[in-house]
Amino acid sequence: MARIEITPGVYWVGAVDWHVRDIHGLTVRHGATYNAFLILDDRATLIDTVKAPFADEMMARIREIVDPKQISYVVSNHVELDHSGSLPRILQEAPNAKVITVERHGETGLARSFHANWPLIPVKEGDSLEIGRRRLSFYPTPMLHWPDSLMTYSEADGVLFCMDIFGQHLATSQRFDDEVDLDVALYEASVYYANIMWPYPTQTLKAVDRIKALNPRVLATSHGVLWRGHKEKIIDAWTRWGKGETRPRVVIVFDTMYGSTETMARAISEAVAAEGAEARLFCLSKTHRSDVANEALEARAILVGSPTMHNTLYPTVADFLAYLKGLRPRGRLGAAFGSYGWGGGATKAVREELRLAGMDVREATLDVKYVPDTADLEKCRQLGLEIARRVKSGTVEGSSTSGS
Ligand code: FEO
Repeated sequence: MARIEITPGVYWVGAVDWHVRDIHGLTVRHGATYNAFLILDDRATLIDTVKAPFADEMMARIREIVDPKQISYVVSNHVELDHSGSLPRILQEAPNAKVITVERHGETGLARSFHANWPLIPVKEGDSLEIGRRRLSFYPTPMLHWPDSLMTYSEADGVLFCMDIFGQHLATSQRFDDEVDLDVALYEASVYYANIMWPYPTQTLKAVDRIKALNPRVLATSHGVLWRGHKEKIIDAWTRWGKGETRPRVVIVFDTMYGSTETMARAISEAVAAEGAEARLFCLSKTHRSDVANEALEARAILVGSPTMHNTLYPTVADFLAYLKGLRPRGRLGAAFGSYGWGGGATKAVREELRLAGMDVREATLDVKYVPDTADLEKCRQLGLEIARRVKSGTVEGSSTSGS
């Protein structure tokens, strides 16, 4: 196994998960990597580990560089099991190693995840540790994306081990952003942010400010490629997403039983486009919720259509709304539409769920009994025009009460 040195004395000892396609409900069509790093200094230090099934691969990479018994410290930048899953294995093979973790949340997380009695060194903002020629500095980034998330900076190397920050699920044999297709890396970074970090804009901007102040040479994220050649692009993207910057885009997401709600969705999208805004249409039976979340990240409006089934939401729409609510897409305009046969009920449920998601939701829902006729389609068109005008003018505050 070849040694992979990312900068003199700092090695990548992670794993590539080529075949994974789902990570806690998130579709990862390009696979994933679990990045771990070994710093060779007077006291060899491992930064994170890999998901448990990849422990052998990590150990083999480490052995190419150093006898694991010589490892003095293991920095646990994040207790989530994709990074900590091989801690038991490394601590078995490095019996003298101490584990560095964020005080309180990291200590609790490790204790509750592993029920072990490992020697811990709890750290907090601004703490540092000398490992020989290098000094490691620690910067907690709570909720990006667990309470114990931590960045570790080696100033001597100019390498910031920034954990999930700037991550992308992207399996590749290349280790750096300037060795892969940048558009793919940025696309996957967007999918990652939308589905994992979107609920935490304040924490995002705070972390970005910290990172800019440190001005590292390499942003050694825990997933995908490390940022070195295009750092400013990923920092700009995170700044935009953290600020909640949107564009005049309308995401129209729906499902359909016999085509009526789809006909409505298409009529709305035609009108949105005719008015000069961007319309993107997604059927939830055909598009995964995590892909829609990514499309919605920079959208100014999210319209959700559902047929009524058993007096409430169609199941795929209920699934999507539960997911969207967790992402807290504040500052977006929302509206509900859909078809029903006799009792109705889905559109009101959509409207309430969008409100609970923190969106600026149009009071009036657009409902069609059975199959839309010409007059119904005109109402769809009017809804599309109204939404398009609002996203173009940027007026997303305050609910519209114009009915249909
Ligand atoms: Fe890469 Fe938050 O786990």
